[in-house]
Amino acid sequence: MGKLIYHGHSFTELKLSIHTVYIDPFIEGNPLCDITLKEAECDFLILTHGHADHYGNTIEIAKRNNVKVIATAELSYYLDARDVSTHAMNLGGSFNFPFGKVKLTLAHHSSSTPDGAYAGDPAGVLISTGSCNIFHAGDTALFYDMKLIGEMCKIDYALLPIGDNFTMGVDDAVKAAEFLNAANVIPIHYNTFDVIKADADEFKRKIESVGKKCHVMKAGDSIEI
Ligand code: NI
Ligand code: MN
Repeated sequence: MGKLIYHGHSFTELKLSIHTVYIDPFIEGNPLCDITLKEAECDFLILTHGHADHYGNTIEIAKRNNVKVIATAELSYYLDARDVSTHAMNLGGSFNFPFGKVKLTLAHHSSSTPDGAYAGDPAGVLISTGSCNIFHAGDTALFYDMKLIGEMCKIDYALLPIGDNFTMGVDDAVKAAEFLNAANVIPIHYNTFDVIKADADEFKRKIESVGKKCHVMKAGDSIEI
């Protein structure tokens, strides 16, 4: 048992027994975010890729909280060089952390650091806590191998980008939820900026029409997982 808290855009917090995990902590510059950088506290931090709207305030949060950043190899080497403690992984690999197992999956997108350095491939993140499997898709296009991710792991919660332009839009994300065979779906990466405006109610209707639950969350909302 635990709690999933949405902080706007792709920033997601998991409270899992004694550990708090941040994914893509975009705080400063995120008009939707409900917490300040000063309030940010976690035990582990996971990055899907290096773009500024995901990498966000990683360095400040990681240093102040003395946490390990879990990221793809190139992104972790970039952070190592900035005195941030990291755990490097790569696509298809999984590792057991104190809060659960993390597996990095494919994401069809791009990745670079905010200052333009090469950051390897972007990733999706599959977290298995023992009682719950959570998939955070990061930024991605729809791709057919999402079926394989859903076949290999029974996904309880899938966080899927719906904002279009840089990622999947509503209809592609509905198809992604079907491919993943996810029981519960949470739309992310929309309405943060004008270029990624999307209708979450339309998404919810379409997700429900394919027999799944949809949780449209405002920044600050939480659900029991
Ligand atoms: Ni991106
Ligand atoms: Mn993004």
